[in-house]
Amino acid sequence: MVVTAEGALYDVVVIGGGPGGYATALYGASAGLSIAVIEREKVGGTCLHRGCVPAKAFLETASVYRTVSSSKDYGVEAGQPSVDFAASQDRKQKVVDQLYRGLSGLLKGRGITVIEGSGTLLGPAGTGASGTGIDAAGPGHGPTGFVVRVERPDGTMADVSGRYVVLAAGSVPRSIPGFDVDGKVVLTSDEVLALTSLPASVAVIGGGAIGCEFASMMSDLGTQVTLLEALPGILPGCDDDIAAVVSRSFRKRGIAVHAGVQVSGHDPLPGSSGTKVSFGDGQSVVVDAVVVSVGRRPASEGLLAEGTGVEVDSRGFVVVDQFQRTAVEGVFAVGDLIDTPQLAHVGFAEGIATVKAILGEPVIPVDYGKVPWCIYCHPEVAFAGLTESAARDAGYEIVVKKDPFGGNSRARIVGETDGLVKVIAEQLPSGKAGRILGVHMVGPWVTEQLGQGYLAVNWEATPDEVAQFIQPHPTLSESFGETVIALTGRGLHVG
Ligand code: NAI
Repeated sequence: MVVTAEGALYDVVVIGGGPGGYATALYGASAGLSIAVIEREKVGGTCLHRGCVPAKAFLETASVYRTVSSSKDYGVEAGQPSVDFAASQDRKQKVVDQLYRGLSGLLKGRGITVIEGSGTLLGPAGTGASGTGIDAAGPGHGPTGFVVRVERPDGTMADVSGRYVVLAAGSVPRSIPGFDVDGKVVLTSDEVLALTSLPASVAVIGGGAIGCEFASMMSDLGTQVTLLEALPGILPGCDDDIAAVVSRSFRKRGIAVHAGVQVSGHDPLPGSSGTKVSFGDGQSVVVDAVVVSVGRRPASEGLLAEGTGVEVDSRGFVVVDQFQRTAVEGVFAVGDLIDTPQLAHVGFAEGIATVKAILGEPVIPVDYGKVPWCIYCHPEVAFAGLTESAARDAGYEIVVKKDPFGGNSRARIVGETDGLVKVIAEQLPSGKAGRILGVHMVGPWVTEQLGQGYLAVNWEATPDEVAQFIQPHPTLSESFGETVIALTGRGLHVG
């Protein structure tokens, strides 16, 4: 095996160019660090190429379809719309390609070296410490340096050296026994996002964020959807009132939602492209395709050579402390590779915190219980902080107020009244509402409305403080303001 040494000694070598990795690189380069990013596919990662961005592009197609379908109600005659999913696929790809070009240019502009290939962190024999001759005194107090071996697409090997290494290899879809992903009948999010036409019928296994977004999008665009969730309700982790609104909306739109059911397997039908999916107590459904959305697993295989000392848990997650430090000083891990919420923006936050730690600056660890969550199904879901049941389980005495969007004038104007805002605050001994513990929203454009709620939760603000702020009228965000005013004990429209 011929191994060449690639370039200089970088301050930081990042393995993986998804949100966790590229945020580390951009923030680090802004702070003056020299950075190399090793990426085997395209920078942007799952989020840009096979996740957040393409999924939301298709959900936008669904939104346009809904709008056009109901245009008559608004006095606009547009006829009956039809779906050309290949055109939607083209548009999605244009959006992705533009963002990819933008990101590549940004990395280049910051002087970040992107090296194409698969990176493996070498063990002690490959580190500067044991004699590769790297003078690796880090900025101020750094460790002795590391070598990452890169297998390039043409099979050649190159060694890239860094004072610090950030592991950011991301995650891949999980499957379940009995559902071998073939890209034709059994699909994961990777395959769904590459479709040029939609199946007539589909069983979606897993009612989490991905399952609900796909179920919503496909159903809106004419696919008959059956949603199968093992737990007692869809969107586990969301507040019960919020999940109930989505569940009701799904059922109203003809999605067959089965919660609390185990899926036992599927049998392709002879002489047809369909398959029979068995679930629950002897139930089954015949569908053209199955979408498996039962979570994602960390992509840690091949990332670490023997004896690096970096710890990996039984599920494949790289083990880190609250500062993203692995068991090896100077090696950090961020993003879906570690056991924290698998969200692009959490990866960004972890990348920023990691760079600060490398620079020896004070770091406020990411507060994982208070990160913003946004799910883009219809109706949308957005929340930060404790759900009502989690707050009670944690032993809080609480006060809860809710404002349904049905009473919001802007929601009436846009014709999207399904949903509500729910705010949970700690109850003080006086009976008044204290710190805001959780803000939960379901309804129109709530993913764009969460900001105030997120700030309130993370600022540990009280309703008295937040209620001082004026909400413009008529806006959807008035529902948040109304809910908070109600928590002060004197509601306007909400009692
Ligand atoms: P998830 O963990 O959010 O949901 C998986 C669901 O599948 C769970 O409800 C689980 O109970 C269910 N499940 C597991 N095994 C099952 C089985 N055998 N039969 C039936 N149901 C089963 O995972 P998901 O939706 O695949 O998403 C992966 C990650 O990506 C998550 O961490 C998610 O938060 C993130 N993501 C976030 C998005 C967003 O915030 N908008 C969008 C897409 C993904």
